[in-house]
Amino acid sequence: MTNKKVFASKRILVVGATGAIGSTIAKTLSLQGAELCLASRDVSKLEVIASELSAASISINLTKPDSFAAIVDEIDILDGIVCAAGVAPLSPVKFMQEKHLINCIQINAVSPLLLIRDLYKQKKIKTPASIVLISSLIASRGAAGYCAYAASKGALEASARCMAVEFAPHKIRVNCLAPGMIESQMARRASEQISEDILQAHMNLYPLGSGFPQDVADAATFLISDQSRWITGTVVPVDGGYRAK
Ligand SMILES: NC(=O)c1ccc[n+]([C@@H]2O[C@H](COP(=O)([O-])OP(=O)(O)OC[C@H]3O[C@@H](n4cnc5c(N)ncnc54)[C@H](OP(=O)(O)O)[C@@H]3O)[C@@H](O)[C@H]2O)c1
Repeated sequence: MTNKKVFASKRILVVGATGAIGSTIAKTLSLQGAELCLASRDVSKLEVIASELSAASISINLTKPDSFAAIVDEIDILDGIVCAAGVAPLSPVKFMQEKHLINCIQINAVSPLLLIRDLYKQKKIKTPASIVLISSLIASRGAAGYCAYAASKGALEASARCMAVEFAPHKIRVNCLAPGMIESQMARRASEQISEDILQAHMNLYPLGSGFPQDVADAATFLISDQSRWITGTVVPVDGGYRAK
């Protein structure tokens, strides 16, 4: 996709815009002319990227869904939404704490759905529009220590399919991206909790080697654009061929 004006006059909300993947998606959409509204929790990080991209910014805490309706009030009508916020608390089942499990499912699965509900109810999503949710390879592959995270991403994908069907008459598309391990803080934090041997064995499962935030951003850009206008309710792997093995 080379046309710099693909998103001219399109307003797109990026939730999790301070993260490795969300910030790269925001920069990529901005380069192609999108008018952005950036959201995340850390206001100082948010202001830096919002000023760099001349974007609007909105502070949101995904653990507080009661605040969403007021936040949605401030948002102008949208052509696209990207949910790239998330947490990945890793733990063997034996040591998993209920509060971490619930927090992970709240941030990764429940809150994106409630935020979309509020945007939809307040008529802040245009017709047509596209919604992209960042899931994970782990939603469909077992990995020790990832139980809470996998539960949240599996729920996200299942709810995305149902939203896709429900919103299709309004030409609002809903798709997920399922990245494998992406070079990022989140992946570094995860890899610190496993041995070098296990990490290397995992990395060997990617025929195309390491993935980068830009790989996810390029796929998100395609799904947000009209070039994917007949694609909805699906999960697009961005995993360097992991599933091909
Ligand atoms: N990195 C990977 O290898 C990988 C692989 C597969 C899928 N993913 C998924 O891709 C997405 C982005 O990952 P990433 O690597 O970019 O992670 P990251 O760098 O850790 O960024 C996480 C983002 O989520 C936001 N966030 C976390 N908790 C929040 C809360 N309670 N309320 C509002 N925002 C909150 C953070 O905002 P603040 O800065 O304001 O806290 C930040 O913008 C996640 O959904 C992740 O599960 C990542």
